[in-house]
Amino acid sequence: MLIAPSMICADFAKMGAEIKALDEAGADFLHWDVMDGQFVPNLTLGSQLIECVRPYSELLFAAHLMVLDPDRHVEPFILAGCGRITVHYEACGQIVRTVGLIRTFEDVKTGVAVNPGTPVALLDCVLDFTDVVTIMTVNPGYAGQTFLDPMLRKIEQLRRMIDARGLPTLIETDGGLCVENIAAIAAAGADIVVGGGSSVFANGHGYRANLEALRSAL
Ligand code: DX5
Ligand code: ZN
Repeated sequence: MLIAPSMICADFAKMGAEIKALDEAGADFLHWDVMDGQFVPNLTLGSQLIECVRPYSELLFAAHLMVLDPDRHVEPFILAGCGRITVHYEACGQIVRTVGLIRTFEDVKTGVAVNPGTPVALLDCVLDFTDVVTIMTVNPGYAGQTFLDPMLRKIEQLRRMIDARGLPTLIETDGGLCVENIAAIAAAGADIVVGGGSSVFANGHGYRANLEALRSAL
């Protein structure tokens, strides 16, 4: 199970130091939540911030694009140093085309995220084209929300779809992770979890202790 901190939960006033601290604490890669105020109600960060802080770690940077018309933003985030680009199924008119666009960039991984209300059955064809599928376990837009338990069933369904076809596609979950639910998320079949306000960045224990607490709850 890989654990990726959600960087919108970090202190933006010292982002370089935050990245170093998370890297040293054992984060597997870093998750950047890009929100456009249209696809989701909130606004967060753009590729310029990522470019500025890219030198602070060699960890993979994964951009989670919660934006309308994500095709326009694929290249800037890759040039800024993101090694994985995740787009939302719901934001793409032609999801297979958009994933194909990401694939034209050498060594860049692809991700497709689905909102809580989107059935995983819609992803059947997309699985052939993407490296990762992200099941949103909160409604995207804000960190610090509560995990939606019915999403465990979606993870199980997706796991069955992937395994039935012997595909290498990884399952990621995003939203509401905590020490109390990580074992259930893993048991449902997730390979990667994104963690923010209730996990990696929770209370005053520090990143290393929080990451260790998550791993030992598995
Ligand atoms: C939600 C974001 C998540 C979120 C994770 O829209 O995509 O990555 O920030 O943070 P927590 O773990 O606090 O839900
Ligand atoms: Zn996210």
